[in-house]
Amino acid sequence: MPRSQLIAPSILASDLSKLGQEVVDVVKAGADWIHIDIMDGHFTKNITFGPDVLKAIRPLTNAVFDTHLMITPCEEPYIKAFIDAGSDIITVHAETCLHLQRTLKYISSAGKKAGVALNPATPEHMIEYILDDIDLLLIMSVNPGFSGQTFIPQSLQKIRRIKNMIGNRPIDIEVDGGINENNVQYVAEAGANIYVSGSAIYQGGNPQTYASRISAIRCAAKKISV
Ligand code: DX5
Ligand code: ZN
Repeated sequence: MPRSQLIAPSILASDLSKLGQEVVDVVKAGADWIHIDIMDGHFTKNITFGPDVLKAIRPLTNAVFDTHLMITPCEEPYIKAFIDAGSDIITVHAETCLHLQRTLKYISSAGKKAGVALNPATPEHMIEYILDDIDLLLIMSVNPGFSGQTFIPQSLQKIRRIKNMIGNRPIDIEVDGGINENNVQYVAEAGANIYVSGSAIYQGGNPQTYASRISAIRCAAKKISV
């Protein structure tokens, strides 16, 4: 059965001086998931949110909190903190986890969806032996760190290969970085079904534009020609 096609706005690109309202507005505008980028200043050059920020916005919406951990070390006390703060999905980077399979089991045993992210330079065979331990694969189409970067076209080949590798397993393929209404069709054609988008939704900071931007991405993703 085809997986649902969902839009996950990345709140990193929102107006952080009114983060709570930005979450409420983007959900009202049709967001399916809220993508929350956690960066630590080690794995990435940027530093973003801690668990207390998630805890503060959690009561504002029932939307799925899709937490993308870009932290090293990626260990259980931090993962637990983001689970306790209200994450529904926890995605860890393969590059940050020495004992990736154990980490994934830890997330699943806490009743949360477990995801693995791969940087643009990380080959897909990294996940060959953990395919039965994951709910989601996050393919980075920019190098982690900042909103507003340009989509790396080689990501499309990786999406296709991963789509093949997962076969009939119930795994979502999420793509993150530089996605907009002009390139999402290719991402969808390659086999992805969850589209993260930060600047293409939040740019300009006018909540009245969010619904049309989300729907432009959604419509473009449906124009699959294969
Ligand atoms: C990059 C983050 C992305 C990013 C998406 O490290 O994981 O989620 O903020 O923002 P855009 O869509 O602007 O590339
Ligand atoms: Zn992200």
